[in-house]
Amino acid sequence: MPVTPLTDILTDFRAYRPGNHREFLEWVRDHSQAVGLKAYALQDATSAALYLSALNQVRDFRWRHWCFTREYILKRTAHPTATGGSPIVTWLPNQLQAVLTQMLEVSGRCGGNAGVGEIVDLVRSQQETLKKEVGKYCADRGVA
Ligand code: HEM
Repeated sequence: MPVTPLTDILTDFRAYRPGNHREFLEWVRDHSQAVGLKAYALQDATSAALYLSALNQVRDFRWRHWCFTREYILKRTAHPTATGGSPIVTWLPNQLQAVLTQMLEVSGRCGGNAGVGEIVDLVRSQQETLKKEVGKYCADRGVA
């Protein structure tokens, strides 16, 4: 995740996770950093394609989750913050865009592995849709 005020909120939200879940995710993060998981995966086209599939799962969750937020919150209220206190129109899209950007970067390392082209097409179309949706909801609410 990029270091921005929006992703700092994500770090703060981690404090609200159940303790054992938090410990598990911290363990995964620490070990992946210790072994240099991303750099290792990107050394080979097939493992880069597997890394891309893992990112695709995160994208899939965040895209569906953005759709929930759009349907159940944004279309029903102009209130500027969500229940957790994050800026409703920009915060979730910031995380989703970070994943989409990572995916395009990683896709360049995947060679001609099967399925990569379809994933990239989906990423590009979701990037455009998200940009338009966020632009609209920001304009409606006077958010810069
Ligand atoms: C109708 C269903 C849902 C809506 C409207 C919704 C809405 C939101 C909103 C507005 C936030 C921003 C944080 C804040 O409150 O300030 C958030 C964060 C989050 N929600 Fe949900 N949520 C829904 C379902 C779920 C489900 C089913 C899960 C997990 C299985 C989930 C997991 C998360 C996570 C992990 C975050 C942190 C953001 C991230 O990592 O991308 N949410 N949600």
